[in-house]
Amino acid sequence: MSTTISGFSKLSKSEKIDWIVSNYLSNSNTAKQTITQYFNADSKLQQLHDEFIENTISNYYLPLGVAPNFEINGKTYAIPMAIEESSVVAAASNAAKFWMQRGGFKAKVISTTKIGQVHFMFDGDFETLKKVFETVKPKLILDTKPITANMEKRGGGILDIELRNKTSDLNNYYQLHATFETLDAMGANFINSCLEQFSKTFKAEAEKHLNTSIEIVMSILSNYVPDCLVRAEVSCNVEELKHKGIEGKAFAEKFVRAVNIAEVEPHRAVTHNKGIMNGIDAVVLATGNDFRAIEAGVHAYAIKNGKYTSLTHAKIEDGVFTFWMEIPLALGTVGGLTGLHPLVKIALNILGKPSAKELMQIVAVAGLAQNFAALRSLTTTGIQEGHMKMHLMNILNQFNATNEEKEVIVNYFKTNTVTHSAVVLELEKLRQ
Ligand code: MEV
Repeated sequence: MSTTISGFSKLSKSEKIDWIVSNYLSNSNTAKQTITQYFNADSKLQQLHDEFIENTISNYYLPLGVAPNFEINGKTYAIPMAIEESSVVAAASNAAKFWMQRGGFKAKVISTTKIGQVHFMFDGDFETLKKVFETVKPKLILDTKPITANMEKRGGGILDIELRNKTSDLNNYYQLHATFETLDAMGANFINSCLEQFSKTFKAEAEKHLNTSIEIVMSILSNYVPDCLVRAEVSCNVEELKHKGIEGKAFAEKFVRAVNIAEVEPHRAVTHNKGIMNGIDAVVLATGNDFRAIEAGVHAYAIKNGKYTSLTHAKIEDGVFTFWMEIPLALGTVGGLTGLHPLVKIALNILGKPSAKELMQIVAVAGLAQNFAALRSLTTTGIQEGHMKMHLMNILNQFNATNEEKEVIVNYFKTNTVTHSAVVLELEKLRQ
C-alpha cells in the first residue's frame, strides 16, 4: 500500500521529517537522528541550503577533494573535485604529476556558441512562412532588448535566429533555431527568457501576417552544444613514457590500442567515456555547474556521427605520443550556484576565479587526465590494484574500524593484495 499526502510542501521542515520517518523508516529515532545530524549548526547557512530546492529534509554530503599539480598552458592549478568514488582524486593527482614532468597539459577553447529553440507547428506553405519570418526577425531581436541589454554591454547576446523546416521528420514541425554568446554565464535563464519572448512575438506577428494559427509547442535551450567546444591535449616523446619498469614505446603502443578499441566498440566506449566523466563531473559539481547538462551534451557529442565512440584519441607519429580530446562544455563561472554556495565560491577561488573559457579548459583537462590514469592502469597493472587500495578505507569504515586498526591494516595491505575477504580476515585477526 502506498502512502500519499497532499500539501507536503506546506509542512515545516521538522513536520516533513516526522512524516517521512513515521511513514517510511522503521527505526524512527535513529532515522531522525541520522537525518538531522547533517544539519549545519549555522542556521543561516542551513537555510541557504534548504532553499536551493523544495521539500528539503537534510543535507547530502559528498567529499570535496583537491588534485594538485595540474599544469595547464604553463599555469599550475589545484583542481577541486566533488565526488564519492574513492579512486578518482588519487588518479587525477597521479596523472597531473606524471604530465607535469612531461610538459603539462595544453588546452584551448575552439568555440563558445550556445543554442536554444522555439518548437512550433504550422500547417501551411513553407515559402510564405519563410518570408514572414524574415520580416518578423528584426522585431524578435528588438523585443528581447530588455533581456539582452546587459549581456550585450558585456559583448554577448543573440548571435542569430534561423527558421528551420523539420517537416520531413514530423508533419507541420518547424523551429526557430537561435544561437547565443553568454560569456561567463552558463546562460540557461538568459537563453530561455529570450526564447519565450521570441515565441510570444513570433506567434503574434506571424499569425497577423499569415492569417492562420501557429502552435508554439515549447521554447527551451538545447544541452547539445557542439559549437561550445574545448580541446585538451598532452604529448611527449614515447621514450619519456617509461614508467615503473615498462618501456615507453611498448606502453604508448598498447595505450593507443586501448583508445582504438574504445573508438570502434560502443560497449567499451561507454565505460571509457564514463571514466572521462569521473573527472569532468567532479569538477563541474565542485564549481556549481549543472553536471546533468554536461553529461547529456557530452554523450550526444560522442554519437554525433551516428555511432557511439570514444571522446579521446591517441596517436604515435615520428616517435611522439599525442593524446587528446575535444568535447562540448557549456559552463558558467557567474550566476546560478556559483555566487550562492560557499564551497563553490571556494572551489572557484582555488582555481583563481577562472573565466568560463578557462574553466572549460580546466574541466576538459580533468577529463583527459582521468582517462589517461584509467587507461594506464587498465593496460598495465589492471584497475583493481589501485581501486581496491582506495576502497580499503570504505571496507574498514563499514566494519567500524578504529584509527589504530586502520593504521595497522593499511600498513599490512601496502604489500598484500586487497580483497574484501582479506580485509575482513585481517580485521578479525587483529580484534582477537
Ligand atoms: C571507473 O569508474 C572508470 C573506469 O571503468 C574507466 C575505464 O574503464 O576506462 C576505470
